[in-house]
Amino acid sequence: MKYKKVDKIDYEFSVLGFGCWGASGSGSWSDHGDQEQVRAIETAIDQGINFFDVAPVYGLGHAEEVLAQGIKGKRDKVFIATKVGLPWNNKFEAYNDVSAINIAREIDDSLRRLDVDYVDLYQVHWPSDKGVPLEETIEAMKRVQESGKARYLGLSNYSAADYRKACEITEIASMQGLFNMMEQNADAYHNIPLQYRVSDEIFPLVREEGLAFFPYSPLFQGLLTGKITRETVFGSNDVRINNPKLQGAERLKHLDVLDQIRNLEPLKGKSLPEIAVNYLVAKKEVTSVIATQATSDEVLANVNALEWQMDDETVSSIDALVQEKLG
Ligand SMILES: NC(=O)c1ccc[n+]([C@@H]2O[C@H](COP(=O)([O-])OP(=O)(O)OC[C@H]3O[C@@H](n4cnc5c(N)ncnc54)[C@H](OP(=O)(O)O)[C@@H]3O)[C@@H](O)[C@H]2O)c1
Repeated sequence: MKYKKVDKIDYEFSVLGFGCWGASGSGSWSDHGDQEQVRAIETAIDQGINFFDVAPVYGLGHAEEVLAQGIKGKRDKVFIATKVGLPWNNKFEAYNDVSAINIAREIDDSLRRLDVDYVDLYQVHWPSDKGVPLEETIEAMKRVQESGKARYLGLSNYSAADYRKACEITEIASMQGLFNMMEQNADAYHNIPLQYRVSDEIFPLVREEGLAFFPYSPLFQGLLTGKITRETVFGSNDVRINNPKLQGAERLKHLDVLDQIRNLEPLKGKSLPEIAVNYLVAKKEVTSVIATQATSDEVLANVNALEWQMDDETVSSIDALVQEKLG
């Protein structure tokens, strides 16, 4: 395994991390059994993966509990990042709430489900859609950190301007946003407009501030692994059915560009996960690639991909092609 370090966090992050959305159970992704997920997490740790990204909303608490099983007895080997701000009501419908009261409540629920005394990184999942002042949210996050329940604080789906405002209150150590080889400055996630552009706005900030950056959907929800083809039909429970870029003509357009990327001379003979993972590892701003990995085989394929390294020239060729074809 290869590792990266950033100025703001005292930790050597494995360049390949582990996203736990797939551990949600049957509710929201292709239906991966818990046992296979736990095995995948154990394999990941055995392979030197030490960064795990999860959230309460993944499976409405389920993914945090599955992660707890996978890391049992290995707390010292992992850096746990969870999130706050998308609780659910008694009809099991998630909603946005980044108020101080909710943050104080959610951290204890996460610690209980994860079966730990503290999390390493506590991230606000999405900015408020109800006008909760940023100051209220960040003050509450600061209190969680001061209580010893979280070591570092992070923001997910926030703009650079909000990061700067938040830093007037307390130190923010990481950002998370939608980024992969084909979505470099996305303006929407599914149908949710994004208040930031990763490549143009967040990357300069990451370089200037020495922040960690975690790219979500690093494998474009499976499009960059070869799993999603022109023919794939998603199950009705699969969240990917809500991603307009993975449907109809948009999917065909993206697959055509992907074919062109694979045909670049230095990439001939490389597998898609090799290309997609190494593209991200080669980006200096990316700290750890938080791929959702459903099985031990997927973990091993992604770890094996790291034996090769993409050079800067190839990264630039991909960027130029994506810019020209997808804007
Ligand atoms: N902050 C946020 O708002 C936010 C939003 C979205 C995601 N995230 C985080 O980002 C993580 C990853 O993003 P994502 O869930 O959108 O998906 P992703 O990592 O872009 O894609 C994951 C899918 O790729 C497939 N895959 C992975 N490795 C493979 C391999 N070697 N060969 C073949 N297929 C492979 C798996 O498909 P199958 O399931 O079909 O096996 C997997 O579910 C999440 O787990 C979560 O931690 C954060």
